[in-house]
Amino acid sequence: MALRRSLLLWYQHQGRELPWRNIDDPYAIWVSEIMLQQTQVKTVIPYYQRWLAQFPNIQTLATSDLQTVLKAWEGLGYYTRARNLYKTAQIILKDYRGIFPRELEKVVKLPGIGRTTAGGILSSAFNQPISILDGNVKRVLARLVALSDPPAKAIQFLWDVSDSLLDPDNPRDFNQGLMDLGATICTRSQPKCLLCPWLSHCQAYQQGKQNQLPMREDS
Ligand code: ADE
Repeated sequence: MALRRSLLLWYQHQGRELPWRNIDDPYAIWVSEIMLQQTQVKTVIPYYQRWLAQFPNIQTLATSDLQTVLKAWEGLGYYTRARNLYKTAQIILKDYRGIFPRELEKVVKLPGIGRTTAGGILSSAFNQPISILDGNVKRVLARLVALSDPPAKAIQFLWDVSDSLLDPDNPRDFNQGLMDLGATICTRSQPKCLLCPWLSHCQAYQQGKQNQLPMREDS
């Protein structure tokens, strides 16, 4: 499929080099995905590196005390994320003998891990063909298909689009590429359409609506 090929080729050349890429430790990838839920890449990087130095594996995290964990999170905000990391580390230690589960049904039951975070972790750590739909990806896909509804009103449809596009042969790079496309090209304001590998497939661009889409909730 041309969409898969063009995204993967673009990602090979223009994808960002980030410290949680080219690794396959599900623990480290999980930590990165939780930090990235509500915090920008640039801010996350030093926290991520300090965190892994202080808590190099699930066992270390699970057996630290909560105050130490919260202290390491200080400055990132949304502390529920840190509490859930801690809680989940203890669940994994107790129920899965310290080994991060590979099954989607198990992963989505862990505190703080919803469907898109689970897809991000499992596709990245194990190259499993599981799609993602975070805020950036919703915007990219809404523009690609010129979605006339606000994304919040078309969540199931957008998941279906994400599922159908996902490259079953290279889900890891496809998902990471999709996130990079949303973060660097298909930005909310002033998208860089002329640099986009999906330019010739993009319904919003063809209709001149890239600056109007996605529709806002209140419009
Ligand atoms: N945002 C959420 N997950 C991400 C990832 N793996 N890389 C870059 N940005 C992200």
